[in-house]
Amino acid sequence: LHHVIIDTDPGQDDAFAILLALASPELNVLGLTTVAGNMGLDQTTDNARRIVELAGRGDIRVHAGSARPLMREPRPVPEIHGETGIDGWDFPPAERGPEPGHAVAFIIETLRAHTEKVILIALGPQTNIAMALRMAPDIREKIERIVFMGGGYFEGGNMTPAAEYNILVDPEAARIVLGSGVPITAVPLDCTHATPAPVNWSSALAAHGGEVMRACAGMMEFFERYGNAKHGTASRPLHDAVAVAALLWPDLFTGRLCPVDVECAGQLTTGMTVVDWLRQTGKPDNCLWLTGCTDSADVYSRMEARLARLGTRR
Ligand code: BDR
Ligand code: CA
Repeated sequence: LHHVIIDTDPGQDDAFAILLALASPELNVLGLTTVAGNMGLDQTTDNARRIVELAGRGDIRVHAGSARPLMREPRPVPEIHGETGIDGWDFPPAERGPEPGHAVAFIIETLRAHTEKVILIALGPQTNIAMALRMAPDIREKIERIVFMGGGYFEGGNMTPAAEYNILVDPEAARIVLGSGVPITAVPLDCTHATPAPVNWSSALAAHGGEVMRACAGMMEFFERYGNAKHGTASRPLHDAVAVAALLWPDLFTGRLCPVDVECAGQLTTGMTVVDWLRQTGKPDNCLWLTGCTDSADVYSRMEARLARLGTRR
């Protein structure tokens, strides 16, 4: 059993990641923390509440965190995720609001209080995690691992030729996280692009019926439409959900331990994850960099079976 905190900026693929985590008996979700990313902080926080309540898990605490990156301006992307960030399903309004108290304080207090080590799953810009590590360096020994979705090396970027969204939005935060000394698993585009959802997966999800699966189908269909328009393909990787899948089923993923850093001052490459794949810097290995998936179809069929377990809202 892994105890986890999920730091997130939903996002349809964040929603799948959260639902998969809640549906998985291997994971004890201690709470969600939200960050400005795909949408502004108020929207990502409200989305996180709606997602846990959809899963019948209104008891999961959601704490709002950083409203902007450490040094830069926010970069919401409604053109990718729609006006709500989780377009594709009309979620009922949340019954409960976020908890009082900042996400960074929640992360620090939860790690200090927990007797066992905790895994932090970072699905958005890493502002909250970097803040927590800077404010309370003692928490490093309570973190079993940080699993983040972000970056890309062999595949390049998805926002610029060099940078993936989560790292581009807050490269300084990602640099702090990668330099923290905490064990890290990175799930970059190199891995998520090797793990595309089945073609028209939305139809398979819809066939299950029930509110959770219909919501998943709606969000997936929205995601597929964007993929079609931009890449001419009906199959898209659910980046953040792949990160949770990699934690659950490491046997299905491949990668290598190596030194990784982030470019924060490039003229063309700000936000690039610089992966020392051939170990030329002599720096210590700080990151398990995932590059492949041995059976993408299996990842999504396992995910589908898990999601179908989730109860509906009362
Ligand atoms: C990442 O960017 C966001 O838009 C997604 O939610 C995911 O976390 C993919 O590059
Ligand atoms: Ca995300």
